[in-house]
Amino acid sequence: MEKKAFKRTLVTCALPYANGPVHIGHLAGVYVPADIYVRYLRMRGEDVLYICGSDEHGVPITIKARQQGISPQDVVDKYHKIIKDSFSGLGINFDIYGRTSSDVHRANAAAFFRKLYDEGKFITRTSEQYYDPEAQTFLADRYIVGTCPRCGNEGAYGDQCEKCGSTLSPEELINPRSKLSGAAPVKKETTHWYLPLNEYESWLSQWILDGHKEWKTNVYGQCKSWIDGGLQPRAVSRDLDWGVPVPVEGAEGKVLYVWFDAPIGYISNSIELLPESWEQWWKSEDTKLVHFIGKDNIVFHCIVFPAMLKAHGGFILPENVPANEFLNLEGDKISTSRGWAVWAHEYLQDFPGKEDVLRYVLTANAPQTSDNDFSWKDFQQRNNSELVAVFGNFVNRAVVLTHKYFEGKVPARGTLLPEDRDALAQIPELRRSLEDNIAHYKFREALKDAMGIARVGNKYISDTEPWKVAKTDMARCATILNVSLQICADLALAFEPFTPFAAERLRRMLGVCLEAGTDHRAGEQVSVNTYRDGEGAALHTHAAGLRCCPPDGAVCLDWEKLGAEELLPEGHGIGAAELLFAKIEDDVIQVQLDRLAAIRAEREAAAAAEAARRVAPQKDEVTFEDFEKMDIRTATVLAAEKVPQTDKLLKLTIDTGIDTRTIVSGIAAYYSPEDMLGKQICILANLKPRKIRGIESKGMILMAKQPDGTMRFITPAEVLMNGSEIG
Ligand code: MF3
Ligand code: ZN
Repeated sequence: MEKKAFKRTLVTCALPYANGPVHIGHLAGVYVPADIYVRYLRMRGEDVLYICGSDEHGVPITIKARQQGISPQDVVDKYHKIIKDSFSGLGINFDIYGRTSSDVHRANAAAFFRKLYDEGKFITRTSEQYYDPEAQTFLADRYIVGTCPRCGNEGAYGDQCEKCGSTLSPEELINPRSKLSGAAPVKKETTHWYLPLNEYESWLSQWILDGHKEWKTNVYGQCKSWIDGGLQPRAVSRDLDWGVPVPVEGAEGKVLYVWFDAPIGYISNSIELLPESWEQWWKSEDTKLVHFIGKDNIVFHCIVFPAMLKAHGGFILPENVPANEFLNLEGDKISTSRGWAVWAHEYLQDFPGKEDVLRYVLTANAPQTSDNDFSWKDFQQRNNSELVAVFGNFVNRAVVLTHKYFEGKVPARGTLLPEDRDALAQIPELRRSLEDNIAHYKFREALKDAMGIARVGNKYISDTEPWKVAKTDMARCATILNVSLQICADLALAFEPFTPFAAERLRRMLGVCLEAGTDHRAGEQVSVNTYRDGEGAALHTHAAGLRCCPPDGAVCLDWEKLGAEELLPEGHGIGAAELLFAKIEDDVIQVQLDRLAAIRAEREAAAAAEAARRVAPQKDEVTFEDFEKMDIRTATVLAAEKVPQTDKLLKLTIDTGIDTRTIVSGIAAYYSPEDMLGKQICILANLKPRKIRGIESKGMILMAKQPDGTMRFITPAEVLMNGSEIG
């Protein structure tokens, strides 16, 4: 649907905040789809630049640093490494994974701001902001805590209550105080620079609402509602000491707002990687820019950043922003603060060699059009019944039988029978569908197409039974295995974007390599393949100038061969059989489920404890005269018995000082008759008598209701005369 022909593609992935590790929600929404896209384009021989890095500014990082008693730089150093390693562990290899605390970025972001400043693209506004008079510093909303007006949580933040989820402003907090000093914040005037988004409204409307109707409906819809709602000037600076200093004289204590500097980080990281040639990626209309992000980033990438680029001038704009929705975990929203997540770095530790399984499951469940759920049972099921039972099983049979009957050489293909042609004919169709789906950022559907090829192969080999045919007709067996091996080679291509580790194992098994990709640092094209040797010794050169490196006799594949008649020539020697995927047993899954169950139990206990602290609100006012009407007395229980055929009722005989009478009370759920015997209690003596279960009850026992709903009777602290008036 994209109209233009482009010469190159610049893919950016949202820069993760370096204040915590990345989890499956990030992976499913942003990084796995981007990686599929990039790997696919590279296989097709397209020139791609793939940019990411850490977002190292912002208030949450400074808060984390305070909590841990370390500097913000320590925080970002720690998480930058964890996140970077997680990505490469999952085969997500950006051309650069930079950092917004780098010198290149600081200089670049400052220069960007300064150009807009010099050209009068900002407006300034003076407003009253919260200020900590003791710490002598302005307070970000997050640095103000107080009681939530909605739910009473005493630790609500100035921007949000994490207990009830309400969005708040500091004004709404009851008893606000500074997180820094505990002092009550005061209002103080401060001046900031604003990007007047309102001035870009009609331009944005034309560019997106008229010009990019092909964007995903969730993205287009959010843009439309922002633009229709009317855009307001947005502050691009903050009073903080962590960030890129505002490069203007007299702006001490002010830094660029994190959402101003972070997207510039895409450019900075490109500059860092390609100091000579970065401009062709950012300034040429021949470049297709695609931002991969999660839905919470849409406004920044579709409205704010493009307005910044437009204000600056000279930069291209995104051609598409395929934002995804959110992934839930076992039916609940992923929550970093509650630990309700599957962390990438922990997954890599717990499931070594299973990087592809996570990539596969996250793609199969990608939250493309609506929020979706990850569950460990589904993870296990997809591994065992799809990757192992279909893809792995098919490849294994084809490779093992080729070794068994044909000494590991692709056997000759005789005349094809209709079932052979049927199987082969499905592959070009699946390929077309896969290509079309990727072009439309439908990675879930594209994966189904790739899996469709594995299903074709698995069904073909099951139906044709070469292991049986071998007993009677070796020529026919040869044909079947030849066809099967061609399909295996198709799979080595089709799965490279989705499960690159398995695709690599498969290429090794088939003795093939793969052309793809450009090493931008070296400024040359290279092949992604198994045999690449660091010394470059074993490399050979392709016609197109691609360096490649198969050992003698290997075959080079490229995307264009997918679905072709013959990918592997007769006589081609294949490698040894390897396990493509391994079954995941119940006990492994149980460990994960137990971990989550423990978190859930902890959370429920905390919620119960919280509920237990909650006190019912005060009732409407009454007058003293109202109160005086009630005759409350001390009394002693003389006898107690259960009312027959009830669970809840006790019949109590009590000495009220005035008389001896009967009160029927719903106390039996909490006390046995023996518990009550001889106890001094308080009663409402003048409650109008009523019949309960045929017994006349005169009065009511006073009880205190506990948060869990149970009732406790009220007893005087010392034994008093029965009939004492309480009031
Ligand atoms: N750090 C942001 C987040 O995790 C994303 C920043 S994307 C960038 O939501 F464009 F600003 F870099
Ligand atoms: Zn609340």
